[in-house]
Amino acid sequence: METVLLTGGMGYIGSHTAVELLKEGYEVIIADDLSNSSADVLDRIYAITGTKPRFYQVNAADKAQMEPIFKDYPISAVIHFAGFKAVGESVVKPLMYYRNNLDSALTVLELMAKYDVQRFIFSSSATVYGEKNTPPMTEEMPTGGITNPYGWTKYMIEEILKDAAKADQELSVVLLRYFNPIGADESGLIGEKPNGIPNNLMPYIAQVAAGIRDHLNVFGNDYPTPDGTGIRDYIHVTDLARGHVAALRYSRTHAGAEAINLGTGHGVSVLELVHAFEKASGITIPYVIAPRRAGDIPEMYADVSKAERLLHWHAEKSIEDCCRDSWNFQKHAADELRVMRSK
Ligand code: WQD
Repeated sequence: METVLLTGGMGYIGSHTAVELLKEGYEVIIADDLSNSSADVLDRIYAITGTKPRFYQVNAADKAQMEPIFKDYPISAVIHFAGFKAVGESVVKPLMYYRNNLDSALTVLELMAKYDVQRFIFSSSATVYGEKNTPPMTEEMPTGGITNPYGWTKYMIEEILKDAAKADQELSVVLLRYFNPIGADESGLIGEKPNGIPNNLMPYIAQVAAGIRDHLNVFGNDYPTPDGTGIRDYIHVTDLARGHVAALRYSRTHAGAEAINLGTGHGVSVLELVHAFEKASGITIPYVIAPRRAGDIPEMYADVSKAERLLHWHAEKSIEDCCRDSWNFQKHAADELRVMRSK
């Protein structure tokens, strides 16, 4: 079976993709510097799948650290998750974001060329659609007009990959544009564990439910949407991970660079997500209406026809599944913390 290298594979999306790849029988190697994840994720992947992937604690941008992996294993493809991803932090520390995210991609691509690895699956983002496009987003839309350095790094790496695929006819590149990943593996063992105060909506709601946060701030209810709150395309992280497996299969027989949306095709508002979570958890989520957040757009959801056509993949889990699994992960995390503190 093929050997796949996951850079940043200990993170939220990466670890779920490792699980789905292992379930499909792939050999999985993870390279991660643990700057936004922890080593115990490896044991959790093992607990879920019965297999522990080979793990290298390395910085994907560091060629000396990364080259031995390419030397030692017959890598068939790379799925590149490694990169900083906090929108707000990227505004404050743009040079760190450009250096880290671009160097990581360039280092991996140079090693792939040297060791004749021809398939690259890139963790891109719907953020590349910027503010000018109106939903549903299609892959043919122009990208750019982005409001933060993090989003620009995704845009720039997409452009690098398109040029690389033009120069090397054998290179196969799939640019997976994630919409809003939420939820957790059904085991409750892996999920989204943001450092500090969550920026994203779902982990914040889960922490309110767990009593870690007092209430949710709803960033604006005066948007031109049915209930006035922001609309997004929330996709279960396990569906997203399975989209990567489908993209990997696709890359075996397709050269060139192809952008593909990974979403559900449905928009859900902030208040609809709050109510779905309350229904799934049985817990009331207190919230207050707060001012709009700078940079937020009213509505963003995917046209998912290309993923269906090229990858024969579509999201299967419901928003209720997402909320149930998010809450299950949050409860697992709280139980583990209690056990740790009791020792
Ligand atoms: C969703 C909705 C907020 C928090 C971000 C990144 C994007 C991608 C996914 C990486 C919006 C509202 C949020 C809160 C709220 N990440 N909200 N109260 O902004 O769509 O996308 O994550 O690729 O790049 O920008 O996700 O979860 O932050 O916000 O009302 O405490 O929830 O206004 O309408 P977003 P989000």
